[in-house]
Amino acid sequence: MERVWLPALGRDVSRIALGTWSMGGWMWGGADNASARATIASALDSGIDVIDTAPVYGFGLSEELVGDVLAERGVREDVVIATKLGMSWDDTRTPWRDSSAKRIREEVHASLRRLQTDYIDLYQVHWPDAAVPLEETSAALTALVHEGLVRTIGVCNYSVPEMETFARGGRLEASQFRYNLFERAPEVDTLPFCRERGLATLVYSPLARGLLTGTMTAEHEATDEARRGEMFHGESFGRHLAVVASLDEFAQREYGRRVIHLAIRWLLDQPGMTIALWGARKPEQLDAVVGVDGFSLDDAAMSAIDSIIATGLGDELSAGGH
Ligand SMILES: NC(=O)c1ccc[n+]([C@@H]2O[C@H](COP(=O)([O-])OP(=O)(O)OC[C@H]3O[C@@H](n4cnc5c(N)ncnc54)[C@H](OP(=O)(O)O)[C@@H]3O)[C@@H](O)[C@H]2O)c1
Repeated sequence: MERVWLPALGRDVSRIALGTWSMGGWMWGGADNASARATIASALDSGIDVIDTAPVYGFGLSEELVGDVLAERGVREDVVIATKLGMSWDDTRTPWRDSSAKRIREEVHASLRRLQTDYIDLYQVHWPDAAVPLEETSAALTALVHEGLVRTIGVCNYSVPEMETFARGGRLEASQFRYNLFERAPEVDTLPFCRERGLATLVYSPLARGLLTGTMTAEHEATDEARRGEMFHGESFGRHLAVVASLDEFAQREYGRRVIHLAIRWLLDQPGMTIALWGARKPEQLDAVVGVDGFSLDDAAMSAIDSIIATGLGDELSAGGH
């Protein structure tokens, strides 16, 4: 398993992390706890030692599952836990943003309890909260580092100006954002900014919520909220599936690999990329992790991949989002 040195944590970690959003069930059509536990165990067995979670994933469930498995195995110290703050919810499980200093204080203790630990390795603001000054959030988090409850601080889904303001108020070591072969917006400024500032980058949806695994077919019905984006529906879905098939052919022909390996390899070979967060909720979904190692993409390969995508998607790719 490829590894990378994280100066702020003073240790190296696997460049593939386990993402635990889907195993919480929220926005993914429900949870299966036994399968989720087996998935966390399987990630550890395959050499993954970074786990990304959040309180809102299953409204506490995902953090609890991670905490349980790490405690059962007695491996807390060996694993980097990246969790988040800044999303609250009520009895109806309707989430909203709250990154106030008061809320952070409550949240950190709830997360530590669920995770069965007394420190969080990477504590990340889940979404920018327009109702709270970024400096307030930043200062509250830096205080947690001084108290020893948190080791490093990150943000998710922040624009470059938001990261600049946040960093003026305290520490900032990492940035998390959505990035994959089909969703390229971070290339404009987020990734270059992180590279310049030496921030660790953690990329979510590296497999485009399953689309880049090569296992989806035209019959797939995207009913989960997580897959509400345009690329999972109608003609756009068909175009994306055709590109996935072409990328799969390319991966087989050039490297003896499949599209799932190529999608993650492509991310890890981007300058400034640190960690890909591979979302999984069934152990066998991690079988392909091993195939990401042992090859790399040179400039010619990167151009060939871009050309396959441009041919299949045209303006749809530059539109970015979904
Ligand atoms: N900070 C944020 O705002 C934010 C937002 C989104 C995600 N994240 C983090 O990033 C992680 C990854 O992102 P993501 O879950 O959105 O997307 P992803 O990693 O691109 O896709 C995950 C999904 O792809 C499918 N999949 C994975 N491996 C597969 C395989 N080998 N074969 C077939 N299907 C496979 C599974 O879906 P099925 O189980 O349905 O088959 C899985 O739940 C999350 O778990 C979370 O930790 C953070």
